[in-house]
Amino acid sequence: EGDVYKYYADGEWKKSSSGKNVAIINPTTRKTQYKVQACSQEEVNKVMDSAKSAQKLWAKTPLWKRAELLHKAAAILKEHKAPIAECLVKEIAKPAKDAVTEVVRSGDLISYCAEEGVRILGEGKFLVSDSFPGNERTKYCLTSKIPLGVILAIPPFNYPVNLAVSKIAPALIAGNSIVLKPPTQGAVSALHMVHCFHLAGFPKGLISCVTGKGSEIGDFLTMHPGVNCISFTGGDTGIAISKKANMIPLQMELGGKDACIVLEDADLDLVAANIIKGGFSYSGQRCTAVKVVLVMESVADALVEKVNAKVAKLSVGPPENDSDITPVVSESSANFIEGLVSDAKQKGATFCQEYKREGNLIWPLLLDNVRPDMRIAWEEPFGPVLPVIRINSVEEGINHCNASNFGLQGCVFTKDVNKAMLISDAMETGTVQINSAPARGPDHFPFQGIKDSGIGSQGITNSINMMTKVKTTVINLP
Ligand code: G3P
Repeated sequence: EGDVYKYYADGEWKKSSSGKNVAIINPTTRKTQYKVQACSQEEVNKVMDSAKSAQKLWAKTPLWKRAELLHKAAAILKEHKAPIAECLVKEIAKPAKDAVTEVVRSGDLISYCAEEGVRILGEGKFLVSDSFPGNERTKYCLTSKIPLGVILAIPPFNYPVNLAVSKIAPALIAGNSIVLKPPTQGAVSALHMVHCFHLAGFPKGLISCVTGKGSEIGDFLTMHPGVNCISFTGGDTGIAISKKANMIPLQMELGGKDACIVLEDADLDLVAANIIKGGFSYSGQRCTAVKVVLVMESVADALVEKVNAKVAKLSVGPPENDSDITPVVSESSANFIEGLVSDAKQKGATFCQEYKREGNLIWPLLLDNVRPDMRIAWEEPFGPVLPVIRINSVEEGINHCNASNFGLQGCVFTKDVNKAMLISDAMETGTVQINSAPARGPDHFPFQGIKDSGIGSQGITNSINMMTKVKTTVINLP
């Protein structure tokens, strides 16, 4: 305490000349854990300038060399897993083991990106003109993929390291430079991750990390003329950004209300295990969390009983103890969740457990007999509270899923693969998981949302492609 973490620009750690800083509140103790610099707009301008010039040289650096540096950063990141995980525990109350997993997964993601990049960027296309009517074979077209320029990466609090590198690594392998604006909760973890890239020896200015208040530098960054692409993961802010941004490619992953549709023939033990994992891991603070269970009435009692038995076994407490359920990220988030719970109470939902809260810590809660007039049927709590809606037909489940303004992922549990396929086709979501809870990984799988859940597709391969543009050269023969 007392020390203010520096921001990273031009290959150096710097103090902001604003003289201001931002406090990071530990969700468990609700006291200031760390402080970071509140960068000014002038500092953002400088960062943009160096990002632009560093990118020009980086794009000319051989692809294999770019890959080599990424592999180095991945190895260093993994070596630093313990201190980074500790920051995650303190800043975002991620359970200790999950925090380590996040860092290791990030190292693997960087290496995979380097490998994938050398392959997909090492190939182009060759086209000839005489396949189009009226043309002789006199034009040869060569295609390659060129970088976009400066990529602005804005990850959310729930994976400040992993969702940062899932933007940084594809950007860098493709020859772009990176300006990272980490979330306030998670900023120190992100700075530590950036330090690993620093140690790997990337050129000055290629990677920068600016911290600060959204109100001061948020719009300034996203509307900055120096930015050539924005990759954002988070909430509603993404919708605002997409309306204000310049004419540049956007990659957005926003909220979700992932439905879990349970048919009569489903393996209920498997469903219960996946509802626990999908609904309550990291206390429900994942955009891919199961956020509504739509279960056929005939098996609903049996399923609810099985889920309740497992909820009773979840440990609740501080992240340092590796508890299953840990405090949610902020007091305002806890208040929001409480608002959804009291609305459901008022409107007659069945409380399978007693509602309990201490500070930001909310005990896991399953709400049965939720009806469409309750807010929790539609809104995402981003907390350990899960609604169950009983349905009388599969169509009812699909209709509820499709009536949502979100469309990230969904899942369906049944032993009938034909039915599962038809339901998957009918669900308006970016991904449907058959017989498992929604999840983004493995990280090379395509990951996308429709409607308010996002723009574009992520996953390692898609992100590399998205952060490039096709360039063609046409050779005209006489
Ligand atoms: O909430 C962010 C989202 O990308 C979730 O990732 O790995 O928990 O499915 P994951």
